[in-house]
Amino acid sequence: MHAVVLREFGPAENLRYETVPDPEPGPGQVRIAVRAAGVHFIETVMRAGAASDLAPPLPELPAVFGGEVAGVVDAVGPGVEGSWLGRAVVTASGTPGGYAELAVAGADQVYPLPQGLGFQDAVAMVVTGATAVGLLDIARLTADDVVLVTSAAGGVGRLVVQHALAVGATVVGAAGGAAKAEAVRKLGAEAVDYREDGWDDTVRELLGGERPVTVVLDGVGGILAATAYELIGDGGRFVSIGSASQVDFTPASERGVAYVDALLDLLARPEDRAGYQSRALDAGAHGELVPAVQSFPLSHAAEVHAAMERRETTGKVVLVP
Ligand SMILES: NC(=O)c1ccc[n+]([C@@H]2O[C@H](COP(=O)([O-])OP(=O)(O)OC[C@H]3O[C@@H](n4cnc5c(N)ncnc54)[C@H](OP(=O)(O)O)[C@@H]3O)[C@@H](O)[C@H]2O)c1
Repeated sequence: MHAVVLREFGPAENLRYETVPDPEPGPGQVRIAVRAAGVHFIETVMRAGAASDLAPPLPELPAVFGGEVAGVVDAVGPGVEGSWLGRAVVTASGTPGGYAELAVAGADQVYPLPQGLGFQDAVAMVVTGATAVGLLDIARLTADDVVLVTSAAGGVGRLVVQHALAVGATVVGAAGGAAKAEAVRKLGAEAVDYREDGWDDTVRELLGGERPVTVVLDGVGGILAATAYELIGDGGRFVSIGSASQVDFTPASERGVAYVDALLDLLARPEDRAGYQSRALDAGAHGELVPAVQSFPLSHAAEVHAAMERRETTGKVVLVP
């Protein structure tokens, strides 16, 4: 099969599209002919070889990245019923990795592809959607909230904007560049481009100069997060889902603003993961959360990583063999 293989940690071009042996399903496993595989921002950090407490451990090399896989079962291992063959499925546990034409997963770790959800949307929901659902459980948004979402045009960002609007909150999405801000506006939220100087003043203006932000949902960190933090009124909350940016952000709150590390909270409760995955797939199938997918050929994985690092991607990024 073809797969995207990393043989040495480093720049995006180290991801090579190669021919490798087909993986065989072991006992209790199914093999999936991949139709869509998810890409995560954190995989660009791992590919570069940077270890992080909040990322999975660096893999042994050579490695094939990507755990999110949707496709069709084309072989079964010992102990797995033949009725699995031909079934459309999605999983968050694909190995050796989803950046490939074939992946294997435990039969107990795959979900039937929900009716009404395509392969690419299912891949977008099974982890990124699950993260959004978990984050939203923690944030507990209400119609009284004034919500500021950073990286609002991203995979998680677009989903949390949709939910915040659905509960009746006032929502401002902040994103890098005019096109991303426009994508957020299309969801029905107010939006600002945080590459522009004074974007925080624009947020204040959009809120009529008087209503402070009650909750920031942040996946960016660094100086942008620090600026967003200053927009929160007394007694508000800052909920972080991880920081793409290298700058450390440790808010010193003198105004009773709660700092909530949602990512640490979710990582501390791995037993809840399957529940979030099912709920996210359901929400996708029923149109309660609609992912925006940007798809690329599998063979372009290196270019996709580079584009992600340049912040040029938008929505959930998916590779298609
Ligand atoms: N997806 C998940 O399941 C998951 C799980 C755990 C944690 N997280 C964390 O949650 C955050 C959002 O995740 P996501 O999957 O939805 O990713 P994402 O927002 O789609 O990630 C890419 C976007 O992040 C923004 N960004 C901010 N700082 C950046 C930097 N220094 N370099 C490159 N991009 C930067 C860019 O958008 P702008 O141009 O708009 O700034 C970029 O387009 C990330 O910090 C991620 O690590 C996600």
